[in-house]
Amino acid sequence: MLESLRSVVRLKPIERDRVARRLQSAANVDDLRAIAKRRLPAGVFDYIDGAAEDESAMGRNASRFSDRNLVPRVLRDVSSIDASTTILGHKAPMPLIIAPTGFPRIAHPDGELATAKAAAKAGIPFSLSTMGTRSIEEITQVSDGRKWFQVYVWRDRELTKDMLARCKESGFEALYITVDTAVLGRRERDVRRGMTLPPKLGLDTFIEGALRPEWVWDFLRSDPIVFSNVAVSTERLSNGTADGSSAVTLAEYINSQFDPRLSWDDVAWLRSEWGGPVILKGIQSVADAKIAASEGIEAIALSNHGGRQLDASPAIIDLVAPVADAVGGQTEIYCDGGVRRGSDVLKAVALGANACMIGRPHLYALAAGGEQGVDHLLNFFQTGLEHTMALSGVGSIADADSSIVQEHH
Ligand code: FNR
Ligand code: LAC
Repeated sequence: MLESLRSVVRLKPIERDRVARRLQSAANVDDLRAIAKRRLPAGVFDYIDGAAEDESAMGRNASRFSDRNLVPRVLRDVSSIDASTTILGHKAPMPLIIAPTGFPRIAHPDGELATAKAAAKAGIPFSLSTMGTRSIEEITQVSDGRKWFQVYVWRDRELTKDMLARCKESGFEALYITVDTAVLGRRERDVRRGMTLPPKLGLDTFIEGALRPEWVWDFLRSDPIVFSNVAVSTERLSNGTADGSSAVTLAEYINSQFDPRLSWDDVAWLRSEWGGPVILKGIQSVADAKIAASEGIEAIALSNHGGRQLDASPAIIDLVAPVADAVGGQTEIYCDGGVRRGSDVLKAVALGANACMIGRPHLYALAAGGEQGVDHLLNFFQTGLEHTMALSGVGSIADADSSIVQEHH
């Protein structure tokens, strides 16, 4: 009896590592999001997960990906699949980039250090935000992988210049200029909650916190969350710019510190200060893509900031083919907003993008399992892309052209 039971029931080995056990059940980005939602205080989760106004741009980013299907070709010997590509002239194992995001340490105390390490292992570029919570120098200490820095242009130009100088000293490869944030989008989940950054630990946070003890414990135990990049430059320049050590609403902070007069002249100024490759992030029209290409900008990132800025903005995947037709080959084209699995990456690349970027997914992964969570996510993208390529009859990224994408309404 026991013998026959044994022959049909084989006990699965139990995963001993707590984080690995948690991640085992995360089969996709939605699962990582669900874990993040369970672990983070509601205000923190909503800041990451939310978008502007009715969140319609965020919804469109996703739905316009699903409005497109792939046209699989069969009988094409897919025994060897190569998802590698080049990004800014360097080889990468897949066309994916970690998008810059503010405040990663509210998701997990390791924040950007964990994400930068995971990206380096996966061989893809990691991007650090001006509103980051680990400094340029700290990132360099933990990662010898590809590192890109994203600038917002401050009213105080000296501060921006100092950040560029630090990036050069620390071996950062490329610079994004984010151009969709003249003022901060109206994130209504944050308005309702009066969300501040770093989060204020008020009575409501503690009540919430009783349900999320691990997060509260991590938050209280680790060093204070500040805008690390601003803090280092402010100290070097001793100019007293607020570094986020006192809680502020993000809208107040950005609207008082960022320069809404930003124009193409400032882009030229930043490029000459920097001297290396520049990516204009937040291009949302063929007209602006053409100006960028005619200025000789190395890359553009088609992006509506994950729907967090102009809620009436176009779905990003809709922009890829028209922009690639107009400027493909003159400048590299990246895109982000709603990229959630390998098939999304294949659709974007087939329509003419050089690479996709991901924002929220890496923050969900960080919240779910720190560095292991981001490893899990990047492995999900690499294997998912290769798997989709095999099922679509596409052996290499260069083989993916617009004939394999079909739109339905
Ligand atoms: C962002 N994003 C962003 N972009 C940027 O240039 N600088 C920044 O500081 C931030 N901060 C930020 C914080 C959070 C919480 C999110 C979710 C996003 C936008 C980001 O780089 C990217 O464009 C979007 O996240 C892409 O959309 P998905 O992948 O989130 O759908
Ligand atoms: C955001 C800012 C930091 O999207 O860019 O929240």
